[in-house]
Amino acid sequence: MIVDDVPTRADEQVALAALRHRDTAVMLVIVPVSRSHRPTGQVGWAGLTRAAHAFAGALAAAGPGTEAIPIVVPWPGGDRTASGIELGPVLDAYGATAYQRITVSRSAADRERIEALPGLVARSVHDLYPTASAREVLRAAASTPGRGAVVFFTGLSGSGKSTIARALADDLADGGPRRVTLLDGDEVRQHLSRGLGFDAESRDINIDRIAYVASLVAEHGGIAIAAPIAPFDAGRRAARALVEPHGTFLLVHASTPLEVCEARDRKGLYARARAGEIPEFTGISSPYEAPTDADVTIDTTDVPVEDAVRQVREALERRLDEANATDAVAKP
Ligand code: ADX
Repeated sequence: MIVDDVPTRADEQVALAALRHRDTAVMLVIVPVSRSHRPTGQVGWAGLTRAAHAFAGALAAAGPGTEAIPIVVPWPGGDRTASGIELGPVLDAYGATAYQRITVSRSAADRERIEALPGLVARSVHDLYPTASAREVLRAAASTPGRGAVVFFTGLSGSGKSTIARALADDLADGGPRRVTLLDGDEVRQHLSRGLGFDAESRDINIDRIAYVASLVAEHGGIAIAAPIAPFDAGRRAARALVEPHGTFLLVHASTPLEVCEARDRKGLYARARAGEIPEFTGISSPYEAPTDADVTIDTTDVPVEDAVRQVREALERRLDEANATDAVAKP
C-alpha cells in the first residue's frame, strides 16, 4: 500500500480487504516523503509518517500472522498528488507483486469530503451567525495559535544543546501551529553578538540580546529556541524575567558532564583551552553554574536525540496547555 496521504477509515478497510483477498501475510506500507515545505494547515511529512505507522499497526493487529511493514521512501517531487512517482525499483527490491495507492483507490465521495474539510467550520459558522458576527467569530478562531514560547537551552560547549535544539526546531515546525525560530549560540555570535567577547559581562549582554529577540518571537505567538552556553545563573534568570510577560519560558539544561564534552571535543576547543590558547573557556578557565531552576534536564551521554526532543516537546506542550487554560480563564 502506498500511503501518499493521511489514511482514512475507508482506506484502512481497503487495505484490510486487499490483505484478505490476496491471501498474503505481508503488506508493505510505503510512505513517500519529501523535504519540501507543506502549506500551513496540511499534514506535514513527519505527520504523514506517524499516521502511516499507526495505519500499519492497525493492519498488523487485524489478524494473527499478518505483517504490515512501514517503509519511508524519499520522494524528490514532493507533490503528493503527482502520478509520476518512481517507486518501481523500491517495490522490486522488496519483492512486491502488486501495489495500490491510497489516493487512487479512494472513493470519489471521500475525496470530495476531504476537499470540503477546510471550509467546513466556516460554513457552520456562517449558518449559525449573520455575516458580520461570523466574520468576527472566524477571525478570533484563526488567530489562536495561543501563547508563544521560548525554549532556552543551557549547557557546556559540546553538551549536545545545539543538536537537540535543531532537531526540536524541525520537529515543532513540522505541522505545528506555531512558527519556529532557532537562535543557535554560534550563529548568534556571528550576527547579533558579533564582536562580543567571553568575559562575564559580554556573556550576560549576549544572553540579554538573545532573550530580547526570543521574547519578540514569543510575543507574536511563535516559538524561539535558543541554545547558548549561558553559564551564569543571574543571566538566565534575567532572560526568564524578560520573556515571561510575553510567553512561556522553558529552561532546558543539557547536563552532559565536562569529561564527556571534553572527550567529544568536536571543535577542538577544549584541547586549545587546556593548552592555554583560549582564555576564560567555560568549564576549563571560566565557571559554569548549573541551573537549579531547569524545567527539563538531559544528560546526552546516554540519551539519544529523539528521546531528548520528545522530553522537551512534552514539557513544552504541558506548559503551553497550562498557560492557554489560564489565559482562557483570565479572559472576560
Ligand atoms: S555564552 O557564554 O555567551 O552563552 P555562546 O553560547 O554565545 O556563549 O558561545 C559559545 C561558543 O563560542 C562555544 O560553543 C565555542 O564554540 C565558542 N567559544 C569561543 N571562546 C569561548 C570561550 N572562552 N568560552 C566558551 N565558548 C567559547
